[in-house]
Amino acid sequence: MRAVDIIRAKRDGASLSREAIDAFVTGATDNSWPDYQTSALLMAIVLRGMSGQETSWLTDAMVRSGDRVDLSAIQGVKVGKHSTGGVGDKVSIVLAPLVAACGVVVPKMSGRGLGHTGGTLDKLESIPGFRVALTLDEFRGALADVGCALVSQTARIAPADKKLYALRDVTGTIESIPLISSSVMSKKIAEGSDALVLDVKCGRGAFMHTREDATALARSLVAIGTAAGVRTEACITAMDAPLGRTVGNALEITECIATLAGRGPADLEALVVTLAARMVHLGGRALDPASAEAQVRHALRSGAATAKLRALIARQGGDARVVDDMTRLPQAARRLTVQAEDSGTVARMDAEMIGRASMLLGAGRDRVDAPIDHAAGIVLHRKPGEPVRAGDPLMDLHFNDDQRLDEARLLAGKAVTIGRAAVETPPLVLGWVQAEA
Ligand code: URA
Repeated sequence: MRAVDIIRAKRDGASLSREAIDAFVTGATDNSWPDYQTSALLMAIVLRGMSGQETSWLTDAMVRSGDRVDLSAIQGVKVGKHSTGGVGDKVSIVLAPLVAACGVVVPKMSGRGLGHTGGTLDKLESIPGFRVALTLDEFRGALADVGCALVSQTARIAPADKKLYALRDVTGTIESIPLISSSVMSKKIAEGSDALVLDVKCGRGAFMHTREDATALARSLVAIGTAAGVRTEACITAMDAPLGRTVGNALEITECIATLAGRGPADLEALVVTLAARMVHLGGRALDPASAEAQVRHALRSGAATAKLRALIARQGGDARVVDDMTRLPQAARRLTVQAEDSGTVARMDAEMIGRASMLLGAGRDRVDAPIDHAAGIVLHRKPGEPVRAGDPLMDLHFNDDQRLDEARLLAGKAVTIGRAAVETPPLVLGWVQAEA
């Protein structure tokens, strides 16, 4: 099957056969297709789209480009989780020990931050000694003994996605629901979970800016998971303002520790409880959603979730004493407070701008190979819907290096709009998408 014929067919709006899709994925991964032909087909897919069937075949071919992790030796239903990424999104680090404390095994492979969104691996590496690069045997061992593990993907997880994503990044072909959903789900299916709960972010700080687009992405993700035999549900959640009150790696770890002890910010706790209850229910540990939620709240109150976090950190080589003594986490040498210029109510706090400001302080990277400062970031003193008086602190910028401080301060200030009228904050959970019966 010639590459040029497959490209022409998609250019002209035809549906591709399974053989054609397999030839594309194999050719892209083993480099028998030159990058210009792979990129041409990616662009044709962006412009012409793919049916649900084509998208499932594409995902399946991407899974088969590497290994599918076998977790069958581990007892119980294994429930994974994935977020499409947002600012201050530290949910996985709270969710994994919390759900494991309720008896459900949580295998979690995560990524690094790029641009305005942070990455779970970078946050975890702010804990002294924490190792994310476990071997598959170490990963399975941690799941069997602790009930959860948070690790980086091995090179054998969907290698086709690595190749395709790198090309998409430089050819303007990221923004496509079939390509995003096959990229996400190929990695999730290869991780070996039996069930999956997805957090599809929607809003200014997310990939999907509108509810319609987020719902379309959620439907595509759920359909792919279901076709692959993985019970999949997606929660659509707002990402207009940062989640919680911290942005930046070590700062977010402190908030995770507080949340697991039942002292977290209301929005983060609400989201974590919602997702955790779904995972406990899918994991077969509760007969109905209400008792799943009761178990989750009990794990937060009883200290069981915190104990599980200690065990997770210790198992992955980290200093578990950070849970009881947060001064053991990296701390920035300097702070600068951004004050409110007006009195009123915080009407808007642009997640993307706050994420970019945090990146400028050193907490994130604008190139994949750039180093990051684990101590840098932002602590928010006000969130949308909260009253403020002129001169009150809006947020603290934490930094060691002041090279881009002025730019960060300007952006952080611009991210906040203060209005005179009362503001109603929209709900965080916008809806659920489940498999069609
Ligand atoms: N995240 C992924 O893993 N893939 C995409 O295409 C977009 C976001």
